Amino acid sequence: MVKRKVISTEEVLNFKDKIMLKGVKVRLVPPKKEYIDRFQKWMNDLEITQHLTVFRPITKEMQKDWYDSMIKSENNILFSIVVSDDDNNEKLIGNCDIDVDWKNRVGSCGIVIGEKEYHGKGYGTEAMKLLVEYGFTTLNLNRIDLEAHSFNSRALQSYMKVGFKKEVIRRHAVYINGVYHDSIVLSILRDEWQRNK
Ligand SMILES: CC(C)(COP(=O)(O)OP(=O)(O)OC[C@H]1O[C@@H](n2cnc3c(N)ncnc32)[C@H](O)[C@@H]1OP(=O)(O)O)[C@@H](O)C(=O)NCCC(=O)NCCS
Repeated sequence: MVKRKVISTEEVLNFKDKIMLKGVKVRLVPPKKEYIDRFQKWMNDLEITQHLTVFRPITKEMQKDWYDSMIKSENNILFSIVVSDDDNNEKLIGNCDIDVDWKNRVGSCGIVIGEKEYHGKGYGTEAMKLLVEYGFTTLNLNRIDLEAHSFNSRALQSYMKVGFKKEVIRRHAVYINGVYHDSIVLSILRDEWQRNK
């Protein structure tokens, strides 16, 4: 009988901790505990959260619990998005994650560039490209999907540049500030990604 090495959770987390994905503008790095205060600031900013599913005020404890659950999760892989500032120091600008359904080899992504002065400058698109590449080449996924509110033109434009295709319109699926909006599901398949890279 083949003896399989059992890896402890600590070893898995250590392994996760060493992953870093490098682009030209951004790097995806392990999310640090000291970033929690920034995450909390973003999650209480309506300009940001109107595009997400968050609607409650988020306390430091809630943000910390979310961070702990993401770090411990077997399915959800969280990266922080960083750039280098003028002094070449690491500057946090956002987060992205991929939630994996291992049996069906499907990953569902999310992304937030929380530092608003970095919006619309190509950072989000590059971060998503890195995340998708990681999903197909490291996690061995076959499909990656995500969802965006129909009024989030910047996100939709960015995802389509990465290669996602609009797949489903979930009519009136979100209610924001007194108005119903559609929600758009987008997806990219491994062979489409391979053909277009
Ligand atoms: C969505 C998000 C990740 C996109 O990242 P980004 O770095 O801002 O986007 P990029 O600059 O890489 O790409 C945006 C594209 O949309 C275009 N764009 C920018 N503002 C736009 C707007 N108001 N309307 C339509 N298109 C817009 C840009 O021109 C760019 O396309 P181009 O490169 O063809 O010119 C980022 O804006 C964000 O985190 N927003 C807040 C939270 C959020 O919406 N998260 C996603 C939830 S689904």
